[in-house]
Amino acid sequence: MAQYDVIIIGSGPGGYVCAIRCAQLGLKTAVVEGRDTLGGTCLNVGCIPSKALLHASHQLHEAEHNFAKMGLKGKSPSVDWKQMLAYKSETIEANTKGIEFLFKKNKIDWLKGWGSIPEAGKVAVGDDVHEAKHIIIASGSDSANVPGADVTIDEKVVVTSTGALELSSIPKTMIVIGGGVIGLELGSVYTRLGSDVTVIEYLDAITPGQDGEIAKQFQRLLQKQGLKFITGAAVSKVEAKGNKADVTYTLRKDDSEHTLKADTVLVATGRKPFTEGLNLDGLGIAMTKRGQIAVDDHYRTNVPGIYAIGDVIEGPMLAHKAEDEGMAIAEILADQAGHVNYEVIPGVIYTHPEVASVGATEETLKQEGRAYKVGKFSFMGNGRAKANFAADGFVKILADKETDRILGCHVIGPMAGDLIHEVCVAMEFGAAAEDLARTCHAHPTYSEAMREAALACNDGPIHA
Ligand code: NAI
Repeated sequence: MAQYDVIIIGSGPGGYVCAIRCAQLGLKTAVVEGRDTLGGTCLNVGCIPSKALLHASHQLHEAEHNFAKMGLKGKSPSVDWKQMLAYKSETIEANTKGIEFLFKKNKIDWLKGWGSIPEAGKVAVGDDVHEAKHIIIASGSDSANVPGADVTIDEKVVVTSTGALELSSIPKTMIVIGGGVIGLELGSVYTRLGSDVTVIEYLDAITPGQDGEIAKQFQRLLQKQGLKFITGAAVSKVEAKGNKADVTYTLRKDDSEHTLKADTVLVATGRKPFTEGLNLDGLGIAMTKRGQIAVDDHYRTNVPGIYAIGDVIEGPMLAHKAEDEGMAIAEILADQAGHVNYEVIPGVIYTHPEVASVGATEETLKQEGRAYKVGKFSFMGNGRAKANFAADGFVKILADKETDRILGCHVIGPMAGDLIHEVCVAMEFGAAAEDLARTCHAHPTYSEAMREAALACNDGPIHA
């Protein structure tokens, strides 16, 4: 029986980052992982493989739509789906092997198998029982089924994001249930690869929680790329029939029922915490009403010595939120002041254009009754974006009306997922829009649009 300071259950971004930080801080650390490779959903069947397919399909889109305009003539590339999947697999392997290397470098033990917690202080993996002063549950999440419509998922015709990353061929038609992040990223991939994609969304707008103006523009741009949308529609039934499936939905405005057929149906209606086999009931671990593990602000469950982070607890199900919690709990266990600033967690949708946001939206500020000002700048006024056929979109900065302190930022445009971080840093330092506006930004870069939006909060942008 091995003895550890910390055993972490799960090697996704929450678990593996936590393990490395624990090891760096001198704690003897092990990670339990049942998959054949480290990295969890994110590296194996989530963020990384989907970004590989987004990247490859975006290159195809550029070749088909923009190359000739720049004088790059010739036959458009054709898609070798097997090779594209092989590229995706190689990307996964390079990343998961990278984590294995980091574990060895930091002397972190990988306990291979699915873990459970027979009692506080003990973790069972197969027939072995290991002891640890602290146990951290970082077991992540799993795809949720369509609410109220128990759909049979075979991962061939009716798939979750996992099956959608390894379809046997590119479908002619695809229905995506749910206009959230997964649905739109993977819907974009298959639209670019030639599928006829229809997104069915329950609400009247896509990407719930997103700044309303951004969501509208986003839907318009995706429609221009060929995605079709049916909003205000609740899917009630999905029936697989041979190698196709029927999707039945009800339009909320008039209760009318409709059925659509497709080669592939992607269920993208959210994710739920994955805690199977951990023995949470046996331990008496308190859960929230939404089925998450309840923790305090130091990630402690109600059972002493057992902690939880990432998708199994409250908050956005984002890899980087889990990573930050992993670092914070490691620091707390090493008697340091670990802390996560939940006000500054960016969210990114890796479509083209990208969508990125941090902090308050206009909608939340209105709800709070907070006086704010808006600084907006279109990428049409950004030289670099115009040269690169990437001028669709805008930056919106929200600042306190009195103090000018930045309260939120929303970007739809090129490299939005990278640009957003200058506002994250600014917000961490409590900066005002004027601070951003007075910071020299290199020309010609997309980042100038961020500065212009900051200028728009006060005296006005230069290029608009
Ligand atoms: P989501 O919560 O983003 O979107 C689900 C959508 O499904 C919602 O718009 C909801 O209104 C809709 N819906 C629910 N029931 C429906 C029904 N019966 N009929 C039609 N529409 C229905 O969930 P998603 O896209 O599955 O993503 C899951 C999690 O994974 C999210 O927390 C997301 O943030 C995370 N994720 C993040 C990524 C990123 O950061 N780029 C990439 C992929 C996933």
